[in-house]
Amino acid sequence: MKPSVLVTRRIFDDVVARLRASCDVETNDTDDLWSPDELRRRLQGKAGVFVTGTERIDGALLDTCPALRAICSMAVGYNNIDVPACTARGVLVSNAPDVLTETTADLGFALMMAAARRVSEGERFLRRGEWTRWSVDLLVGSDVHGATLGILGMGRIGQAVARRGARGFDMPVVYHNRSRLDAAIEAELGARYVSKDELLRTADHVVIVVPYNAGSHHLVGAAELALMKRTATLTNIARGGLVDDAALAAALRERRIAAAGLDVFEGEPEVHPDLLRVPNVVLTPHIASASTQTRRAMTQLACDNLLATLGFGRHAGKPPNVLNPDALKNSR
Ligand code: 8YV
Repeated sequence: MKPSVLVTRRIFDDVVARLRASCDVETNDTDDLWSPDELRRRLQGKAGVFVTGTERIDGALLDTCPALRAICSMAVGYNNIDVPACTARGVLVSNAPDVLTETTADLGFALMMAAARRVSEGERFLRRGEWTRWSVDLLVGSDVHGATLGILGMGRIGQAVARRGARGFDMPVVYHNRSRLDAAIEAELGARYVSKDELLRTADHVVIVVPYNAGSHHLVGAAELALMKRTATLTNIARGGLVDDAALAAALRERRIAAAGLDVFEGEPEVHPDLLRVPNVVLTPHIASASTQTRRAMTQLACDNLLATLGFGRHAGKPPNVLNPDALKNSR
């Protein structure tokens, strides 16, 4: 008998077809997030589930789904999944790293540049019909090339942002991370390890690429914003909740920092109303990984992980991106 799996969102037909070759598949053919009750109901009897970065998976849910063995996310960030709770119940969890690194770094750079050079403000000004003449300080911003790039969180995506800055834009790079990188990687990136405070004080453009968890909540709030240069920009491509959005909106309104670029928000898809009111912020709706090629690659990788966890394909029994191999010790 084929194992039953659930796909919680509309994805690509050919990826679902790959799953169907080995599994009985139930899908959500819409873009609507199921309520926790609906998700619980649909998970009954399922051995595996393909999720995105938004479905909340915790111990209480797992306790009501005893058949579940595999949770495979198409996102790299997995703060929506209680991994220790999964491990304790013998449920393997996988994410989808690497395939989205460069695409996500591209958008980080785009937001940083758009914030520094006031691209969105300029377009809104033009569309409002206010562009009637040239002036020497019309929408002047700050340079990106040659400016100091500060990266908070120097994992795969942080390093990809650093490479763009160092190699493409001649930017000195400073970074702060839980652990310092190897000297060889620092040399390759031209990156210097500094404290978080020094980074905030010295960087012209700060980019946040830190995983979200209880310890990184409001990593940048009023106190951190107060350390930044008045001319600096702040870009967040990681997760809502890393930045205190109300404090950021106040700093932008009062011009305590120059501008911001945000792809992620506290409580998204809601956006703090104060952020919608300030002109000097570029806002995108969590699309950092949204290139056609990358979204396809993310879904294929999650599908590889799901099939492998359930014993199919060339990685059978060894999902490439398992986050909690210890779960096997607690198999149910
Ligand atoms: C996704 C992301 O768009 O991978 C992540 O962690 O935040 C994004 O790439 C989203 O979470 C996919 O479900």
